[in-house]
Amino acid sequence: MSVVAKSNKPVNVTERFLARVEVLKSRFPEGKHKSALLTILHELQNDNDDWLSIEAMDKVAELLNIKPIEVYEVVSFYSMYNQQPVAKYMFEFCHTGCCMTRGVEDLMEYTCKKLGVKQGEITPDGLFSVKGVECLGACGYAPMLQLGDYYHEFLTPEKMDALIEDCRAGKVDMISKV
Ligand code: FES
Repeated sequence: MSVVAKSNKPVNVTERFLARVEVLKSRFPEGKHKSALLTILHELQNDNDDWLSIEAMDKVAELLNIKPIEVYEVVSFYSMYNQQPVAKYMFEFCHTGCCMTRGVEDLMEYTCKKLGVKQGEITPDGLFSVKGVECLGACGYAPMLQLGDYYHEFLTPEKMDALIEDCRAGKVDMISKV
């Protein structure tokens, strides 16, 4: 279960972000600016250590002139928004459909055991966490996970070992340049 968290530091609201909000709002008619909500949340999350505190969500509500509850309900619905601080490398395993039948549960258990955490926990060094999410649309490549902007597919325990080592060595790309 995810619980909305307060942050112990102010929301990072940059000039670049505020300019982006205006651009995104301008794509929709007056009174329909809420349509820009998903993208705005993504961008603010990217600027705030990959999670959205209650203060961050309230800021978005203010910028879009909507009620805070309208932001909370969207953030709590989609698994791509994080309501708690997250690990640097968050393994988001698809745990539905094809991935389930191709052994993702065993793989998640293997990964948790290797990292010494339960699902949702962060390793003491702050590097890793394991999360189950709904279908990520790469069913033909099951079992798979998302790490940052990238998918890792046809996973096996050996591939997880290699991925974890690459993360520790700082060799894993998280943000797409596209
Ligand atoms: S079932 Fe795993 S990506 Fe669709």
